[in-house]
Amino acid sequence: MKRFNVSLAALAATAAFATAGCAGGTAAAEGEAPALKESLAGRFYIGTALNTDYIYERDAQADAVVVRHFDAIVPENVMKSGPMQPREGEFFWNDADRFVEYGEKNDMWITGHCLVWHSQAPSWFFTDAEGNDVSREVLVERMRTHIHTVVGRYKGRIKGWDVVNEAIMEDGSYRQSKFVKIIGEDFIPLAFQFAHEADPDAELYYNDYNEWYVGKRDAIVKLVGELKAAGLRIDGVGMQGHIGMDSPSIEEYGAAIDAYGKAGVKVMITELDMSALPTPTRRGGAGGANIADTVGYREAMNPFTRAISDEVNTQWNARMGEFFKLFLERDDVVSRVTLWGVTDATSWKNDYPMQGRTDYPLLFGRDYQAKQVVWDIAEMAKDIK
Ligand code: G3I
Repeated sequence: MKRFNVSLAALAATAAFATAGCAGGTAAAEGEAPALKESLAGRFYIGTALNTDYIYERDAQADAVVVRHFDAIVPENVMKSGPMQPREGEFFWNDADRFVEYGEKNDMWITGHCLVWHSQAPSWFFTDAEGNDVSREVLVERMRTHIHTVVGRYKGRIKGWDVVNEAIMEDGSYRQSKFVKIIGEDFIPLAFQFAHEADPDAELYYNDYNEWYVGKRDAIVKLVGELKAAGLRIDGVGMQGHIGMDSPSIEEYGAAIDAYGKAGVKVMITELDMSALPTPTRRGGAGGANIADTVGYREAMNPFTRAISDEVNTQWNARMGEFFKLFLERDDVVSRVTLWGVTDATSWKNDYPMQGRTDYPLLFGRDYQAKQVVWDIAEMAKDIK
């Protein structure tokens, strides 16, 4: 995998902005930031993930940011199968209903996340009363019931679904999840079939992290082709986009967008955040999002407990700007860019892959203020057609 020196690349990018006369550059922007959804209107949806506090509007300042800047939402947790169907046949709708009402009230594109995922699935899903794995027939039936019930409830209101999440490994092999072990690899086409049956008008997506890895990328391109060849609906590939300061490179990320575009589907950047902190070594390499891959706390890995340094802040804004430049250049295939959260304060990255750090991965800080890149995006959107 190609790597590059972030400090140099980021500083060069910032310098290039300043030279080109962009309003961004390194200077601290003042006044109210331009609304992202207006800067990006007609290019792609700009979305954010809502946690329970945001859904219930318990944080007025965060709510103001969401409503001003974003025109698409996805639930960070409340629609996963564990919270949705904690016990067989018992569905918990309150949070998900409220999430959908929030999106409708604010005229937002609403995506559901996620129907089939090995993680955050309730333990009963895969086992019988004795705790043994169920048969293929039983698991297919449980999957069908779950998908039909959840998608059916929001038919016509939720516009797109992450149908299957994180099923392919970096080398292109299938994750050996309970779904693969009990059903086989065809759990994916079955899931897409069930989702389409429940809402024929909804867009359907395959969603994963590290999708710029060549092995994983090629396997997902192959999967898209197989689903299409089988006559199944697949509208898009969701590239999660949990990225770091040193990986992936813009080039490899762009190559992956191109590969999915060529496969004939839309590309969504579905869970964008960029850690400003050093990447601890762990299984799966940098940039992953496999929640099982965590490492113990080390103080040296948590350098900005009070505030991010000016130098890293500048690098972060420049590199995030480079990614948005790429998305704008590819707006023929990129249909949505969704941040995985609203402000740095509530990002999952504060606890992953190391618990208890202070990270700065999103477009809005702990003070609810827009970062420099929000101004830079507005300028870039005018320049890149
Ligand atoms: O809701 C319980 C609460 O009742 C309990 O008191 C508390 C104690 O720890 O836990 C709460 O649940 C946590 C949940 O987030 C809601 O805050 C879970 O422990 C925690 O594991 C869960 O983490 C989420 C993770 O997915 C696992 O579902 C993160 O917030 C969420 O950002 C993350 O999102 C995933 C995407 O869905 C898929 N792609 C990767 C991405 C990051 O891992």
